[in-house]
Amino acid sequence: MARIIGGLGTSHVPSIGAALDKGLRDTPDWKPFFDGYEVGKQWMRDAKPDIAVVVFNDHGNTFFLDRVPTFAVGVAETYNPVDEGWGPRAIPAFEGAVDFSWHFVDKLVERHFDPMVCREIEVDHGLQVPMELFFGRPEAWPVKVLPIWVNTIQYPIPTPQRCWEMGKVLREAIESWPGDERVVILGTGGLSHQLQGARAGFINQAADRAWLDGIASNPEPYRTMSREDYVEQFGSEGAELIMWLVMRAAMNNDVNLVHKHYHAPASMTGAGMVVLENAA
Ligand code: DHB
Ligand code: FE
Repeated sequence: MARIIGGLGTSHVPSIGAALDKGLRDTPDWKPFFDGYEVGKQWMRDAKPDIAVVVFNDHGNTFFLDRVPTFAVGVAETYNPVDEGWGPRAIPAFEGAVDFSWHFVDKLVERHFDPMVCREIEVDHGLQVPMELFFGRPEAWPVKVLPIWVNTIQYPIPTPQRCWEMGKVLREAIESWPGDERVVILGTGGLSHQLQGARAGFINQAADRAWLDGIASNPEPYRTMSREDYVEQFGSEGAELIMWLVMRAAMNNDVNLVHKHYHAPASMTGAGMVVLENAA
């Protein structure tokens, strides 16, 4: 069986990638943010995973509002980074964990999920940025990826409970996979932000800090909260945080919070990161 060696949560703000592209890592605005991720990068170097499952949302780059799947799973050989308007990015393409991805799709359908299955698709900053934050800028990514898209863009978005249930199926898929791969799961998005409407610019630092601890020690309230509660506490785009629940549900009930970092603002968000390991 394959093994979950860690669960990571992180923001995926697009300007993080743009800052790296422009050589702004050590500027006063960005240095405190990037410095906080060094422990996460070191953890990843030591963990030596084979597969990264990345739970994220597309932002109108590959699915537009005319067709938005609630859940989608990639089974492609290769995922190219999409150009979001700043020009082609100097990062390598992502190699798909094809057989394992099909196994996950099969398990999802068996458990009455009906995802869109993507054989050919690009990935936006929701996947690109977390990969850069934890793996840096390698010549080639040291892991294969299994991308999972969750609709957090157009209502109705899935419930937190549904994301949690998907995480349980993900765990079952990992544990029933005959290979011996080391798997990390990245839940992405958030933390609090709202990019539009009357509350544009909204950040809730207190809720963000509570989230970073609570997602590790007591995720139950976040599983049972309504989507409207997410929007109220974290902002309309902060509701992306429901995607961390897929990661958290795949982990043991008891986890160790081995690293955590918070920085606000990064662009228009509260930016946060956790590294979780299963407790014995
Ligand atoms: C921003 C944050 C996001 O999560 C996102 O997907 C797009 C933009 C931002 O704060 O700029
Ligand atoms: Fe986003």
